[in-house]
Amino acid sequence: MDKIIVHGGRSLSGTVKISGSKNSALPILAATLLTREPCIIHSVPDLSDIHYMLQILSHLGAQVERASGTVTIQADKVSTVAPYEIVRKMRASVCVLGPLLGRHKEARVSLPGGCVIGDRPIDLHLKGFRALNAACRVEAGDVKVFADELRGATVDLEGRQGPTVLGTGNVMMAATLAEGVTVIEGAAAEPEVVDLANFLGKMGAKIEGAGTRRITIEGVKELHGAEHSVIPDRIEAGTFLVAAALAGREVTLRRVNAEHLNAVTNAISDAGFRLHIQRDSITVFGNGSSLPVHLITEPYPGFPTDMQAQMCALLSRANGESSVTETVFPQRFMHVSELKRMGADIALEGATARINGVARLSGAPVMASDLRASAALVLAGLVADGTTEVNRVYHIDRGYESIDEKLMGLGAEIERVKNQL
Ligand code: EPZ
Repeated sequence: MDKIIVHGGRSLSGTVKISGSKNSALPILAATLLTREPCIIHSVPDLSDIHYMLQILSHLGAQVERASGTVTIQADKVSTVAPYEIVRKMRASVCVLGPLLGRHKEARVSLPGGCVIGDRPIDLHLKGFRALNAACRVEAGDVKVFADELRGATVDLEGRQGPTVLGTGNVMMAATLAEGVTVIEGAAAEPEVVDLANFLGKMGAKIEGAGTRRITIEGVKELHGAEHSVIPDRIEAGTFLVAAALAGREVTLRRVNAEHLNAVTNAISDAGFRLHIQRDSITVFGNGSSLPVHLITEPYPGFPTDMQAQMCALLSRANGESSVTETVFPQRFMHVSELKRMGADIALEGATARINGVARLSGAPVMASDLRASAALVLAGLVADGTTEVNRVYHIDRGYESIDEKLMGLGAEIERVKNQL
């Protein structure tokens, strides 16, 4: 397994280009199953999670071609069974259920396992499919959904922990080809849901209200091919904003959608950093030390759970005590024990991390666990004394396109050591 070695103490400056959004591209690639016509998707990031999704689509029988950031997919004749050996690598594979159910009225996909950030149930996805008149069964580790015909319905998809992003996308995709009108109450309002709805609209779907908690879908007979560019990745952008706040002199992010980052830029300016924000670029003026802040992760437009670990790294060096409360994935604190090995002073109280800022962090060998925790450890390594070795960087490669090269381009002293085995 590769590792990333970060030599702390270098300051960052310059410009970095943000890639297309992983969490937008994944459901949009799955949505191409809704038509037999070719679809062309631009700004698809080069990530292992995307590679797994393209593997699943090919396995289902779609023709898939990739030329740098553009993917062309034609799902003319496809099977409806996505097997365990591919699905187990990425739980977001679950978002092929909706399009397969919509177009073929049946699908069989391995149940996604849990992961280090917590149990990853799909009960709300199935609640939505059942509302559309589909039967859902779990058999031998697979989830099977099927319907004689899909009928539009009103369904509330809000769960105990709030709305479901992929669940909203899955049910929205199935509903595009149902008879009649579907209303999703308690829908997720994330920009990635809006991007998916915009792509479905280009395919001929009739969707209103994406980006609000109430989405209305009027079913149509069939959908046609379409061309679309994926929105910029707001979590990659937020990660680089934190890198710049921690270690930057002056860093500019290009190809961002600043509107999608309001909660993150507000948190970073509350922490005492100056930002220059334009529609598609943001400049951060790092000054090394941050003020303490108190954060709660919430569904969009609140502070995103996917930025929680990165903020813990930033606040580890704040002048005072901060708190970070996780309401979406209450167990999502795998990064805390590793940050503490680097000298951070963090105490976990249930779903709240109390962070006492320290003047210095020290480099150490640390273990990556989940995608965003791993990124947080790289960020901490940028300002730690000495060298930080982040192992199991395959976690990072799932969601960040060449993070080491992009940081190197900003002046970080960072290298990737290929596993010799
Ligand atoms: C998406 O996951 C993202 N992944 C996650 O990003 C992100 O953290 C999450 O949304 C929340 O914003 C992709 O888009 C590929 P949820 P998703 O369904 O849709 C509970 C990353 O780092 N829930 O919105 O799977 C669930 O347990 C990844 O890029 C149910 O109870 O998350 C959680 O507590 C990590 N039943 C909450 O809802 C369900 O049927 C939100 O989950 C579904 C979810």
